Formats: sequence, structure tokens, C-alpha cells
Amino acid sequence: MEPPAAASRLPSFASQTNALLRKNLIFQKRNRKETIRLIIVPIYLCVLLSVLQRVINNVLDKPKYKCGCKCVNVDGAGPCQNVCGIQYSTLDQAGSCPIPNPPEWPTLLQVPRAEYRAIQDSSKLFTGLPDASCRKSQSCPASIPFTGANETLSTTVMQNLFTDSPLSNLSDYTSISSLLLGTDIPGTSTGFIEPAFVSDVPMYVIQSQCKARDPVTVRVTIDAINIQKEIKCVQGLPLWRNSSRTINEETFMGYRKGKIRGGINEIAMAYDFQDSNEKHFNVLAMYNSTHLNISYVPTPFGLLRLSRSLNAVSNAYLQFLQGQGSGTKMLLQFMKEMPKQVTHLTIDFSSLIGPLFFEWVVALLFPVMLTYLVYEKQHKLRTMMKMHGLGNGPYWTIYYAYFLILSTVYLVLFVIFGSLIGLNFFKTNDYGILFVFFFSFTNLQIVLSFVAAIFFSKVNTAQAIAYLYIFGSGLMAGSLIRNFLEGGKFPRHWITVLEIIPAFSLYRGLYDLSQYAIRASETGNPGMRWSDLNDHTNGMRDVLIIIIVEWLVLLPVAYYFDHASSVGHRSSPLSIIKRFLGKNPTWRRISINEIANNDVHVEMEKLDIIKEREIVDQVLQQRNSGYAVVCDDLKKVYHGKDGNRDKYAVRGLSLALPYGECLGILGPNGAGKSSFISMMIGFTKPTSGNAFVQDFSIHTDMENIYSSMGVCPQNDMLWEMLTGKEHLQFYGRLKNLNGSALDLAVEESLRSVNLLLSGAADKQVMKYSGGMKRRLSVAISLIGDAKVVYMDEPSTGLDPASRKNLWSAVKQAKQNRAIILTTHSMEEAEVLCDRLCIMVDGRLQCIGRPKELIARYGGYYVLTMTTSSEFEREVEDLVLKLSPNTRKVYHLSGTQKYELPKQEVRIADVFMAVENFKKRVEVQAWGLADTTMEDVFVKVATGAQSIDELS
Ligand SMILES: *[C@@H]1O[C@H](CO)[C@@H](O)[C@H](O)[C@H]1NC(C)=O
Ligand SMILES: *[C@@H]1O[C@H](CO)[C@@H](O)[C@H](O)[C@H]1NC(C)=O
Ligand SMILES: *[C@@H]1O[C@H](CO)[C@@H](O)[C@H](O)[C@H]1NC(C)=O
Ligand SMILES: *[C@@H]1O[C@H](CO)[C@@H](O)[C@H](O)[C@H]1NC(C)=O
Ligand SMILES: *[C@@H]1O[C@H](CO)[C@@H](O)[C@H](O)[C@H]1NC(C)=O
Repeated sequence: MEPPAAASRLPSFASQTNALLRKNLIFQKRNRKETIRLIIVPIYLCVLLSVLQRVINNVLDKPKYKCGCKCVNVDGAGPCQNVCGIQYSTLDQAGSCPIPNPPEWPTLLQVPRAEYRAIQDSSKLFTGLPDASCRKSQSCPASIPFTGANETLSTTVMQNLFTDSPLSNLSDYTSISSLLLGTDIPGTSTGFIEPAFVSDVPMYVIQSQCKARDPVTVRVTIDAINIQKEIKCVQGLPLWRNSSRTINEETFMGYRKGKIRGGINEIAMAYDFQDSNEKHFNVLAMYNSTHLNISYVPTPFGLLRLSRSLNAVSNAYLQFLQGQGSGTKMLLQFMKEMPKQVTHLTIDFSSLIGPLFFEWVVALLFPVMLTYLVYEKQHKLRTMMKMHGLGNGPYWTIYYAYFLILSTVYLVLFVIFGSLIGLNFFKTNDYGILFVFFFSFTNLQIVLSFVAAIFFSKVNTAQAIAYLYIFGSGLMAGSLIRNFLEGGKFPRHWITVLEIIPAFSLYRGLYDLSQYAIRASETGNPGMRWSDLNDHTNGMRDVLIIIIVEWLVLLPVAYYFDHASSVGHRSSPLSIIKRFLGKNPTWRRISINEIANNDVHVEMEKLDIIKEREIVDQVLQQRNSGYAVVCDDLKKVYHGKDGNRDKYAVRGLSLALPYGECLGILGPNGAGKSSFISMMIGFTKPTSGNAFVQDFSIHTDMENIYSSMGVCPQNDMLWEMLTGKEHLQFYGRLKNLNGSALDLAVEESLRSVNLLLSGAADKQVMKYSGGMKRRLSVAISLIGDAKVVYMDEPSTGLDPASRKNLWSAVKQAKQNRAIILTTHSMEEAEVLCDRLCIMVDGRLQCIGRPKELIARYGGYYVLTMTTSSEFEREVEDLVLKLSPNTRKVYHLSGTQKYELPKQEVRIADVFMAVENFKKRVEVQAWGLADTTMEDVFVKVATGAQSIDELS
């Protein structure tokens, strides 16, 4: 028979793509409900956002949050007038009130809290201070270190800092500002309210000597409003230091959160008078800007209490110049914030929490794509397609394009709907930027799902982990990126580094877009435009660059790993990486030697196997063998894990199979049949040895082998959604069939496996019975012009009628193909196979035509006889008389089975003898049978196993 030229029949890229595209379109059509549901998700989220936004703004528009008003009689008579303002508002309302005339607040000095104020400690620093006992009585002084070129001058100025006038009623600003008042409460972000006057916390007056320790309640008048305020005295302690370096070191060491010494020693202020003299005053003031109180101050920094300390020192210098007692003073009476209009409290909710929502919307596609990929992997459909000739190129092209279209439609609908519903996020920003951003991220996400698919083999696991990942990474990106950006403390370039994680870069992009949207809705400017990408605070440009670079890097990586793993070797990503790094563990070679030594004595015995081996050797000499399949000493070892012994699945298999032949492989479970088939179809790599299919090696040329191979695997690998016909059309197209030839082949194929009846061909596979799936699998393996077909137990689970049909289909298909078939049914083996081999424990025990085998291993009749137990002896005598070489093979309470050698007995003699015997003894039942394949099988199998046990 002619060996076909396989290379010329390789299906073209276009025809493979076409086949896959059509299959996916059908799949998509069946799956449209899912798709629609998926596309509805962003729409649903947009609606939810917009509803939430309306609800929130509605609530904020209620009187509860509007500036409070009251009807008051302004001029004492007539109808009252509606007057709005802070004075009529609750705390919630005050925020939106107009403040046409902000209150004038006296300025205060920031004083450290009593428990943190500086004290003497063991170091050389912090000299001239009281010891720790002052902390108990809360009477530590507010220390003010100072330095300067002229110590006399500096000390004199510092002494003038404090006024020791007694606390009287503070009824005007002059009396307030002549005292040095302080507080330990941090300031607010605006100057509308001075928390020190409003809260119940006592204020401080800083004096050079405290007479009374207890707080004094004083009446303070601010803007004609009387406030009762407790005021405590704090001693102000000027401390001469001989250089500003000392001061610097002190403040450095005393830092509350510092970890260097652990001591907390905070100072109130520090001055450096430098080269000041009577002619000019040159002062440097050190202050602490780290004071903040989150619960008071929504923005990171409160107003700094710096002005009072500068004013106080200037005033002290003035006193020094004039000499004590002169009347001229330079005092800062109050500070006043600029007036403010009435404001509406609104929150651009969609832009505020939008990034997180939108992140989830975009990332939602990830698990969907992953599911597609892992589904085909879990059900081995990818391998099945590959085994029928589908290359990686078309697979990638179609899936990539398919995912891209799905994602693009999804995101375009999302953007359109978001704009329609009026979300600022979409309306204000440039659609071009939105498109480029989403589109590039989508591409990255597709590649990521290809990469992720490598690591999963179960849809459920993949889905669970993917959903967890997008949910968790979204939240994490949300809190981290937002805090880092808004906190302003985390270095920008580290944020950029974080954006290497795709979820983070997505969030960053969305965050910046939303910031522009918020600004746009506040100021009426347009949102993000292309020109804004040059803005260095805008992370969008970096994000786009990162995404595109990652895409470019991951694409070949994903393709490589996918290629490596899809060859069908059930290899973990780890082993791929190992292979990639070129590491080949050395223990492999050792174990190969072990098997080689084991083998010798067995092969010596079997002539037929030696002959087969000779044919193989002969065939291997020739360039063009003309044989369909040639196996050359194929071995497979599964290495034992966790201390288990290595398992030798196949121990040196040599076979030569011409075209037009069907070879049946028989063997008990675990004999290595499936391992053998797995190696031949590229599921696993042989540990050693080689096999040639149409002269292509299974080590190197699997791609070529696949193009003319058919496989009917043990477990049906079918798409639940597709019909039988669609399966056959798909695989037919993969095998280069099209047009009427394809229709014909599909119909022929369906008829041959009996699937044309009762519309089975057009039913989805999920409605098929096990037997129907089996028949479809066989049909798939035979469609097209597959030259070598492997069938792993093709007729399991079939009813007798279907089985007959199947057999005739296979018999017909055998004409110009080589078929390798494993089965447990002897009947099937005898009907279908030209040659049979029996495999036990990884070795071939015999090979030959069924008749030959029966003759060789059979060669006897089986006589079964049942009598009552007392006559067993006599039965045995009878049989031994017929032939002395008889063997008893079975014996159980009166039933005995004997093998009578064919050469020594004639059937007629047996009948005669039994008839005579029956006259004497009551025979309950008896029978004489020729040996069957089954007997041969049992004999070979048990024989081989007992040899094994002996050795
Ligand atoms: C330091 O200042 C005092 C008071 O003004 C002055 O009398 C003295 O000469 C100054 N000392 C120096 C070294 O300039
Ligand atoms: C302070 O005010 C209170 C109450 O108004 C008054 O009784 C007291 O005499 C005043 N003290 C001074 C020193 O003015
Ligand atoms: C911050 O302000 C809150 C609210 O008034 C107050 O309870 C808390 O003690 C303040 N914290 C500091 C460090 O001042
Ligand atoms: C400054 O004072 C420190 C101790 O407080 C002393 O060790 C140092 O020598 C002094 N430096 C000068 C320049 O006087
Ligand atoms: C400055 O203020 C912060 C926050 O209150 C505090 O932790 C730190 O110790 C202060 N630094 C000094 C030198 O007092």
C-alpha cells in the first residue's frame, strides 16, 4: 500500500482558522445568553452608580445639610425676614453656609502636649531642663531653645518674649494679644474656626514663671461673643544653646515617633538670632509642621500656628531696643479668613468610587476568558483539536481575535451607556484617551488570561481564583494607590513601579481619569485631554507605556508557554520552566539502564516478538519504510513520588504496522496499553525509545503526525454545546475537507456510526447518551483521511446493535489506514483486528493473527463436567484415560475443567467415552469446547504474571 505524502496534506492556516472560527461562532450562538448577561453587567453597574449618585445628592440637598435659616425681625417690627447663617445652623449645616464676614480669631502658639514636653535626660543634650517628675504633675515647661552670634543680645530678647501680667478678663483683642496664649490642639484646614477656642480643652498662657498651677476660668470676648475658657499656665523656658546644630540635634532626638533613642522630648519653638544686633534683626524660627489631627482636618495639613511666634519674637526685639517699660508694642491682634459664598454640598459619587467599580467591570472579563481557555484544557479539547491537526497559530489567532472582539464590544457598550446615563467620568474625559486606555488594557488582559490558563487545569478552580483575584486586587489597588497618591508621602516613582501589577495600573488610569472628571465637574473645565498627558502629576502616560510594554513582553512568553504546555504533555509550568532553562535531571538516565537490564530474559523466550523486533530493525534501516507505524523499543517510566518505587508502564515495545492493518492490543488493566497510546498520540513523552508514524518521529515531528492522525480517546472529548454534526464538520475542516466533500463525508460518517437516525446528529452533545458520545468519538477519529487511527476501547458502553454498526464502520475504514485499537472485548478483537498482541505488565507477551495465537496457546479442548462430589475421582480417571497429558484447570465441588491436548484426542472419542461414563455415573452436566481467544488471553496473562512474580 502507498504511504501517502503527509506533508502536502497539511491543512492550511486559512482552513484551520476557518474551521475554528465557525466552531466558535456556533459556540457563541449557543452561549449567547451568557454573553448578554456578561454585557449587561457594566450597564447594570452604571445604572446602580447613577442611582446612588442621585440618591446621595438628593439627601445632601435636604435642609439637614443646607445652611440653617431663621425668620427674624430685623428692625424690631413688621414681618420677619428669612436670615441664613452659621448662627442658625447645626454642625451639619454650617459647612454650606455663606460666611460673608468670617470671625476674627486671636492667633495662638502651638505648645506640645504636657506628656511630651522636653525633660532632662542622661545625654549631653537637653540640659537645663527639669527631670521626669514634672510629667506626673503635668507641669513640664514649654522649652524654647535659642542660639545666636551674640549671647547677651539673644538672652535679653528671649526674656522679653513673655509678659507676666496677670490673667484678667480678656475682653478685647489688645488684652488677648498682649498675652502669649497657646494650645496643644492642631489647627483646622481653614481659618473659619479656631478649634482651641471652640473645644473644651484648656488653653495655655506661657509665662516665665507660673504662680498658680490650676487652670483659671476666664471670660474671652471674640467678635462680641463671650466664651468661657479655662486657661492653664505653662512656664516658657528659654534655653541657650551654643549652636544651631545642637538645637537641630535636640529636636531630631526628641521626635515623638523617632526610634533612635525612644525618648520623647518635644520643644515648643526654637530661634536662631544669627548675627542680629541693635541695627538689624535677623531671626530664624523653627517650628513643627507635622502636627495634624485627622479628625479635625480632612486635608493632610492644618493651618500652621507660626504667625504668633514670629510676632512675639519681633515684639520682644522691639522691647529690647526700647528698653523695658516703654509703651510701644507691636502686637498681632487677630487673623481673619477670607469670606466664603454659600456652597452646595454635592459629591461626585461616580467619580469618587468610580475607579473601583470600573476596575471590577473591566477585570470581569478576565475570569470569563480564563474559563473559555481552561474549559478546553480541562476537557482535553485543546489536545483533541491539536491531535487532529490544529496548529497553535490558528488557535491563537482565533481566540485572540475572539476575546478582543468580545472585550471591545463589552467596553464600548460600557462607555456608551455610562455617557448616556450622564456619568461625568465618561462625559468629561476625551473619548480617544478612554478608548486607547481600555483597548490597550484589554489586550494585556487577554494575554494575561492566556498566561494564567497555563496554571489551571480545572474550570472551577480557575474561576474561583480569578474572581478572588480581581475582587481582591481591585480593593488592594484601590486602597493602596489612592492612599499613596493622596497621602503624597510615597515616592512617585515607587507608585510607578507598583503599576507593573496590571490591576494597579488599571486602577491608576481610572483614578486619574476620575480626578480629571471631578475637577471638570467642579470647575467646568474639560476633563482629561491628550495634552494633559504631559502633566507630570498625571499618571496616564506612564500607565499606557507600562501596559503596552507588558503586553509586548508577555505576548511571546504566553505564546511560548502555551505552546510548550499544549503539546499535550501533562507538564506543570514548573517543568516547562525547567525545560526552558535546559535542566534535565540526571536520574532519568539511571533508571533507563535499570529497565534495560531487567528486560533481557523475557525477550529471549518469545519467538514471535523477536521476529517482530527483527522486522522493526530491518524497517529502521530503510529510509522510506512503507510502514504506517514503527515502534522502536518504546519505554515509559513513571517516577515514583514520595519514596514510592518507579512504575514501569511500558518496558520496551517494538512493533511494525503496515497500512491496511488493524492491530489489537489486549491486556489486563494496568498492562500499559493506555500509556502506550498516550505516547503515540503525544500525550506523554516516552522515557526512552522512539516511534515513527509515517516516518515522522514522535519526538520531533508530532506536528506532522497530527495532520494525518485520528484519535478516539478513552474518555470522550466533546463540546457539550455543539451537535454531533458540528463536531464532524469541525474536524472535517481541520482535515482539509470542505464544500460538498465535507457534507458527504459528514453524512457518511454519521450513517456509519448510526447517528443519522432520530435526529441525533442535530442534537447537542450534552443530550447524548454515553453510547452516542462513544460512537461520535469513533466517527471523529475516522473522518477525513487520517492515515493512522488510535482507538482506545471504542465500543465500551455500546449496545450490541450499535456495536455491530461500529465494527462495520471500522472494518470499512481499515482499507487504507493503520488502526491501533485497545479493547477488553475478545470478540471485538477477533472481529476487527488482523493482528493481536497481548500486553502484560508493560511487555508484549505475544503477537500474531488471532487464529495463530489460538492455535499456539490454545491447542486443546476444554472439557467441563459436573457430577456429585463422590465421583470426582472417577471423572479424573476417565479423562486421564483419554489423554495422559490432560491438565486440570478448575475444580469446585463436583465441577471440574480439564484441558485435553488436541493432538492426542479426537472429539468423537471424547463423546464416546462420556456416553459410556454416563451409563455408570450420574453426570449432571458436561460440555466440550474449543479454546477461545479469551482462554488464550487468560492463559497468557496469568502465565506472564506468575513468571513476573517468580522473577
Ligand atoms: C552683644 O550685644 C550687647 C548688647 O547689645 C552689646 O553690648 C555687645 O557689644 C555685643 N557683643 C558683641 C561681641 O558684639
Ligand atoms: C471680670 O469679670 C467678672 C464678671 O464679669 C467681674 O466680676 C470681675 O470683677 C472682672 N475682673 C476684672 C479684673 O475686671
Ligand atoms: C484630635 O481631635 C479630636 C476631636 O476633637 C480629639 O479628641 C483628639 O484628642 C485630637 N487629637 C490630638 C492629637 O490633638
Ligand atoms: C557647646 O556645648 C556643648 C555642650 O552643651 C559642648 O560640648 C561644646 O564644646 C560647646 N561648643 C562650643 C563651640 O562652645
Ligand atoms: C512634631 O510634631 C509631631 C506630631 O505631633 C510629633 O510627633 C513630633 O515629635 C514633633 N517634633 C518635635 C521635634 O517636637
